[in-house]
Amino acid sequence: MSQNAVALYLQNEASKAINEAVKLESQGLYSKALERYKDAVQYLYRLVELDPQYKLNAVYIDRIGKCQAKIRDLQNILENKNYPSNNEDVINTLIITKPPLVKWEDVVGLSEVKNAIIQSIIYPSKRPDLFPLGWPRNILFYGPPGCGKTLLCAAIANEIDGIMFNIDASSLFSKWLGESEKNVANLFNKARKFENEGRSVIMFIDEADSIFGVQNYEVGGEVRLRNQFLYEMDGLLEKNRNRKIFIVAATNKPWKLDIGFIRRFQLRLFVPNPDKKARADLFRMYSKPLNPAADVDFEKLAELTEYYSASDIKDVCVQVQNNLAREVFEYRGGEGRLRSPNMNDFIEVISKRKPSISLELIKLYQSWDEQYKAV
Ligand SMILES: Nc1ncnc2c1ncn2[C@@H]1O[C@H](COP(=O)(O)OP(=O)(O)OP(=O)(O)O)[C@@H](O)[C@H]1O
Ligand SMILES: [Mg+2]
Repeated sequence: MSQNAVALYLQNEASKAINEAVKLESQGLYSKALERYKDAVQYLYRLVELDPQYKLNAVYIDRIGKCQAKIRDLQNILENKNYPSNNEDVINTLIITKPPLVKWEDVVGLSEVKNAIIQSIIYPSKRPDLFPLGWPRNILFYGPPGCGKTLLCAAIANEIDGIMFNIDASSLFSKWLGESEKNVANLFNKARKFENEGRSVIMFIDEADSIFGVQNYEVGGEVRLRNQFLYEMDGLLEKNRNRKIFIVAATNKPWKLDIGFIRRFQLRLFVPNPDKKARADLFRMYSKPLNPAADVDFEKLAELTEYYSASDIKDVCVQVQNNLAREVFEYRGGEGRLRSPNMNDFIEVISKRKPSISLELIKLYQSWDEQYKAV
């Protein structure tokens, strides 16, 4: 057999094993399902070994992780341990009871995005009576990694007095492979129940591309889950203009998203990498506890860090701190306090670090932006 034919054979076998495992599991035949997931893992490993450079390998490895999670869950069921006993329990694990303490001021820059959120989610959730024509309820954030998408979601969670569902792709798939549609339907039922009790509900879908991205290699579970989600979203849109169920999704790979999913977001907001002013402010904010020396020129640091993400800048400040702490241990016998960092301390760290964003990446977002932006 040629390498291609072997790959095709292994793909088919892996797919067959997973489909059977899913079916067996839904019939309650857990130990048989477990064996078929194990078979699938074997086939997938052989696929990866076949050509270590193959571009689909990331997908296979991801799949192996999901099967292994499934295997662990099934082993737990068989041993009767720690497994959510019904769908209700699974859904309860998605509810965030304590929102993270992130305030608007903690999100540096991004004023356009923040204003859009305040006007389209915060105001209507506080005073729905002022918006008789309705308001957008589905919002998508997209943009380069480390620039505040997840942080914005946390700030929204803090601002709205409501119930939050954290719809995290990995737990969703590993727990739900096999009965995904039913669980999505239950999730939305639960949201409507809260809403009927007068609460706002926000569903966060972080890393949305891992649920709503079209993968090259899928077993039926993902497709059914996606379709059910789209169906439920339509249900929310049609029946009542003034629903208080919001869906907030974030991704750094918007081009991977299913077009049907994109279309259902009335607001699509680009969360850009920080501009010069924002970079200076980020340096100010993150270095403040270090009490920087008077010679530290934040504008100059901002000039030196084009294409650094907000997260890169935070990392620079953390590295400066670590260097100062090392000094205390290595030159001052672990006694005394941190000295104030000066301009050179920052420049030294910056010179050893590359930005995590590039012009090419920004261009990719821009071209996606031109096609899909909706503010
Ligand atoms: N605008 C910002 N203001 C202040 N801190 C920020 C900002 N953006 C990012 N950070 C810092 O960087 C960390 C990572 O940012 P965040 O998780 O929001 O990135 P993201 O856009 O969701 O990235 P990804 O696409 O990789 O998920 C944050 O926890 C925060 O410490
Ligand atoms: Mg994120």
